[in-house]
Amino acid sequence: MRIPENKIEEIRDSANIVDVVSEYVRLKKRGKNYVGLCPFHKEKTPSFTVSEEKQIYHCFGCHNGGNVFKFLMEYKKISYIEAVQELAEQLGIKLDYHNNYSQIQSEQEILFEINKEVAQYYSNNLLNEIEAEYARNYFVNRKIKVQTIRAFGLGYALNTKDSLVKFLINKKIDLEKALHLGLIGKSSDDRFYDRLSGRIIFPIFSPNGRVVAFAGRTLVDNPDSAKYINSPESSIYVKGKTLYGLSHAKDEIRKNDRAIIVEGYIDLISLYQNGIKNVVAISGTALTDEQAQLLSRYTKNVVLIFDADAAGINASLRSIEILLKRDFDIKIATLPSNEDPDSFINKFGKEEFKEVIKKAENFLEYQTAYFEKKGAFNDPQETTKAIRELIRLLALIDDELKRDILLKNISKRFNLREKILEKELENALQKIKLDQRTSEKKVSNEQLDSLFQGKPKKNLSDVYLNKEVELIKFLFEGNEAVIKLILNNIDPENLELDIHKDIFYKIRYEYEFSHNIKPSHLLSLFDEETQNYLRQIIIEQYTISENWNETHPPVNIEITTYKYVKDLIIKIKQLQIDAQIKENVKTIDLATNNDLIISLLEKNKQLAIQKMNIKLVEKL
Ligand code: CTP
Ligand code: MN
Repeated sequence: MRIPENKIEEIRDSANIVDVVSEYVRLKKRGKNYVGLCPFHKEKTPSFTVSEEKQIYHCFGCHNGGNVFKFLMEYKKISYIEAVQELAEQLGIKLDYHNNYSQIQSEQEILFEINKEVAQYYSNNLLNEIEAEYARNYFVNRKIKVQTIRAFGLGYALNTKDSLVKFLINKKIDLEKALHLGLIGKSSDDRFYDRLSGRIIFPIFSPNGRVVAFAGRTLVDNPDSAKYINSPESSIYVKGKTLYGLSHAKDEIRKNDRAIIVEGYIDLISLYQNGIKNVVAISGTALTDEQAQLLSRYTKNVVLIFDADAAGINASLRSIEILLKRDFDIKIATLPSNEDPDSFINKFGKEEFKEVIKKAENFLEYQTAYFEKKGAFNDPQETTKAIRELIRLLALIDDELKRDILLKNISKRFNLREKILEKELENALQKIKLDQRTSEKKVSNEQLDSLFQGKPKKNLSDVYLNKEVELIKFLFEGNEAVIKLILNNIDPENLELDIHKDIFYKIRYEYEFSHNIKPSHLLSLFDEETQNYLRQIIIEQYTISENWNETHPPVNIEITTYKYVKDLIIKIKQLQIDAQIKENVKTIDLATNNDLIISLLEKNKQLAIQKMNIKLVEKL
């Protein structure tokens, strides 16, 4: 959801930061300001200060500070948009949105709107269409109530070639966009068709409750048709960064300070329906680091409860490793074999399920039991290996105290001297450091060069590529106005290098969802190779030009940077247009068809005009 800037201003202006903060922190008037004990760090004398006049807060102890939104974001660990929404609600300000596409500027906004309409369409089918009787019965058989169907927006895609296509046309929705979202496909004869026909539909939501993708489950037991068809990744959907159910679960997760992680959509829905709501689903693949990171905004305590089959165990083991690196407290609950959370809770009920959760083991116990089952402890050599593996996992934990406690556990469990284990741990820690260093080195300058090579350079020069690199660099300067300027004016699809496209999409996504633009945070979103690439670009503080400081005394860094980036974007757009013009000229040279030549000449004329009239969208 994009809230118009003027709405945000209205909300900010209507709220009094002193009232908002007072709900959470006891404030006393002191002079012009209010002071209290800082909620963001431990202190005995108040250094947390709120200025009513300026409508900002600042802690002179820990330097946390900002406006009223920032306070809510920090205090409640919510996103910018959520803070805005929350405050709007308190103030009784309506955030209403209209369906008029032409008024919605952002490309992503349009995609969200399309998904929303389509979700409503699927849901309507399920609840009202005669054809959906079969699907409705399916839900009845699986004990999923209508109320739950509504809560999760579940739906049904009619079993026809193109009813969705027709719906989209009827609604004047751009079919190419629906194609990008994977709602429809395009056959070899250029006909559009429904992709999920005959399936029950699970909309997949962003943490803020917007539909980013769909999953369609087949209703027939046919090994030839995929059980699930999922939306492909798009500019609003990154699979590895999405946790199914998070938008429904996040409040409960915060309240319980614990999340239960399950594998399947239906597992989550069944638990939710039975009153266990602090649940997210990883949708069949192993947990990714990005999902762990996303979850860590809400809690650091998780219980994994996967199927007891080999795939489930493997997913648990891999997830443990990822969660350890993010400093989670991990427990693993085990179900009787052949049960999953859905079947279990429907058979045995909520209280029994809670017992299972209560009995969850910590990851060391789980891992040890796993080795035991494999018979690893029957043989001294295998035992050594297993213990080494346990220690290797311990070493992933950052918190020294936690490591120490767990080490003592192992020592007791296997009756081994702590000293020996400490030495093992030391080795494991050493090895992690070494691995990190070599993986950093892995991307050599040559490899970086190779990123630039082997691509069709569409008439784009090194001058252009350097500008693209510079643009990327500015996304990591932590300057919101600049980031917004770039995101609003550059279409990633027009970027030359794939690595830049990927970076751009990720940052846009992050900006949309978490609003966290701290360079260190943004950097951490990428895989090691990309991070390395980025570090090399951004670590040197950018030099606007060699003699910048002489010609431009540092008047106001913010303003000069902004102005500089504006020029940079314009230059990039001009160079992109130049490249297109050149491309057309090439085609003209080769063309024999007069109509084509004329249309290309006309196109070039248009491009030349466009080039002269580049205007940037600026929303400060
Ligand atoms: N999954 C998938 N594609 C598949 C199979 C599974 O994306 N072909 C994901 C889905 O997110 C699914 C999860 O893996 O929810 C768990 O798979 P599974 O247990 O097979 O499916 P369930 O959703 O539990 O379905 P059901 O209980 O109806 O068998
Ligand atoms: Mn299942």
